[in-house]
Amino acid sequence: MTRSEVNVAIDWAQREGWNPGIHDAQCFFHADPNGFYAAKINGEIVGTVSVVKYSGDFAFEGLYIVRPDLRGKGIGSQMQRFVLDSCRDINLGLYGVF
Ligand SMILES: CC(C)(COP(=O)(O)OP(=O)(O)OC[C@H]1O[C@@H](n2cnc3c(N)ncnc32)[C@H](O)[C@@H]1OP(=O)(O)O)[C@@H](O)C(=O)NCCC(=O)NCCS
Repeated sequence: MTRSEVNVAIDWAQREGWNPGIHDAQCFFHADPNGFYAAKINGEIVGTVSVVKYSGDFAFEGLYIVRPDLRGKGIGSQMQRFVLDSCRDINLGLYGVF
């Protein structure tokens, strides 16, 4: 995602009730500008996920969200497969939110 597209993910995270920090997007994007991804249909964002590399051997996943009206159709699984594939040789952390 571009920096402005990341704001969409932050909005969605707020809508999920996750309370992201005011400067989180800026800090994480600075740490790894290639760590933010969107699933798109016809150019429209339908899912978001971040996998920010802290170092050569550690990444952390976040912003794993599918647009509510499109959940349960396999989009999240595809994004998660992408994340796992991109971290095959390094450690990956994440928080599970319930
Ligand atoms: C979690 C989320 C990204 C999954 O995306 P999705 O496109 O709906 O997921 P998929 O359609 O690929 O389903 C993946 C699997 O998760 C299961 N699943 C999806 N939502 C679930 C839920 N709320 N509770 C339990 N299982 C769920 C599906 O049944 C499916 O399992 P299966 O492959 O055995 O059938 C989506 O539900 C979402 O955005 N939730 C709100 C944000 C959130 O909680 N993110 C995770 C934070 S840790």
